[in-house]
Amino acid sequence: MQATSPDWTIRPETAADADGIRAVTVAAFPSPEEADLVEALRADSAAWIDGLSYVAEVDGTIIGHALLTRCHVNGTESLALAPCSVAPEHQRTGVGTAVIRQLLDAARDRGEASVIVLGHADYYPRFGFVPASRYGVTASFAAPDEAFMALSLGDGRSVPAGTIAYPPAFGV
Ligand SMILES: CC(C)(COP(=O)(O)OP(=O)(O)OC[C@H]1O[C@@H](n2cnc3c(N)ncnc32)[C@H](O)[C@@H]1OP(=O)(O)O)[C@@H](O)C(=O)NCCC(=O)NCCS
Repeated sequence: MQATSPDWTIRPETAADADGIRAVTVAAFPSPEEADLVEALRADSAAWIDGLSYVAEVDGTIIGHALLTRCHVNGTESLALAPCSVAPEHQRTGVGTAVIRQLLDAARDRGEASVIVLGHADYYPRFGFVPASRYGVTASFAAPDEAFMALSLGDGRSVPAGTIAYPPAFGV
């Protein structure tokens, strides 16, 4: 699916986007770790799902990116949302919200049931995320309750209870 606003286009990643995604991820985070994570996930066929990496683009430049990869909770499939990146000069203009909404819609359209995120506690609730503890999801590492969140992608789609197993690239 592709969506446009007066300012940007939101669409799935293509093969030509790898460098642009690296650039926006490096710009958004203090270290290149998250950019390396994206590339390690792309190289992991068990984690990567074609069509669940979305970019925001302006005049041919990628200014935002969000990624869902396969994780498991107690052996049941779920999705991990990470990383989410917006170029510093475009932050707080709605780009992140728009790209994440489109990405979650794509996952919903594919019949995915749930998404887990570890992130800013006052950002992700706008998409419907709630503390994962409410669903009985736990992490194998120490995570603040309000920052470790889960989302059901629709009626009758449940968030599995148990401990999350991230793709190996996350290193947790
Ligand atoms: C977090 C991020 C993806 C949000 O994207 P964005 O396009 O800047 O955000 P939006 O314009 O859609 O939404 C703006 C709102 O997001 C929230 N927000 C943005 N950055 C935030 C942050 N670092 N912490 C908490 N809330 C944040 C604020 O509520 C803001 O509202 P405001 O305009 O009233 O201040 C982006 O700021 C970013 O790349 N940050 C650096 C990397 C990062 O922290 N990634 C996420 C890791 S969990």
